[in-house]
Amino acid sequence: MKIVDGLKWRYAVKRFDSTRKLTKDQIDYLKEAINFIPSSYGLQPYKVLEIESVEIREKLREAAYGQPQLTEAAHIFVFANFTDYNTDKVDAFIKLTSETNNISEENSNGYRDMLNGIISSMTPEQISTWNSKQAYIALGALLSAAAEQQIDAAAMEGFDKAKFDEILGLKEKGLTSVCIGAVGYRSPEDQNQFLKKVRKPMDQLFEKIG
Ligand SMILES: Cc1cc2nc3c(=O)[nH]c(=O)nc-3n(C[C@H](O)[C@H](O)[C@H](O)COP(=O)(O)O)c2cc1C
Repeated sequence: MKIVDGLKWRYAVKRFDSTRKLTKDQIDYLKEAINFIPSSYGLQPYKVLEIESVEIREKLREAAYGQPQLTEAAHIFVFANFTDYNTDKVDAFIKLTSETNNISEENSNGYRDMLNGIISSMTPEQISTWNSKQAYIALGALLSAAAEQQIDAAAMEGFDKAKFDEILGLKEKGLTSVCIGAVGYRSPEDQNQFLKKVRKPMDQLFEKIG
């Protein structure tokens, strides 16, 4: 399905059909979309956690005010951003960049210094916020790829982040949860699928200046 047709087809799923699963190929396709969407400077300052355990999903559902997608979706991705971005992470990124394009690390020193300069000019809170924005872009990639494949999805940020972090042991890993992408197939009983899309008229959303 063309991407715009897919975006018109999709909707925010509230009830998934928990009997329907996704194949490994489908999950891998969605993961590739998440991996290949760009991030600022290419840093990908987040991790994407896949939660299979029924027990953990139950706990997450409770921490998400009982939202049923957490236990009914075929697959759950939790996007978690790094709470900091230190020189070690910059070094690892420079190493990966150098190896990928066969550039000597010395030639990347200017870029490394520039990145370290930007990061050191920010407070830890600003870094975490910046990183979380990148995670949302990755969530958008998941939603778009799922729509294109006619895989149903629910984006979610209505959850207690501190509780999620605790359940998933994220603090110890320097991560904090940002948003969720639940994917699978809609339940025929989900009433939301019958609603018309609510979107602004194009001339309200877009404005030509100059
Ligand atoms: C970042 C983000 C977070 C969202 N969080 C929730 C949520 O926690 N629970 C929920 O039921 N819907 C959630 N939604 C769904 C939106 O309410 C929904 O996408 C919006 O109303 C547009 O409807 P549509 O997706 O059906 O076109 C979220 C959507 C986005 C993009």
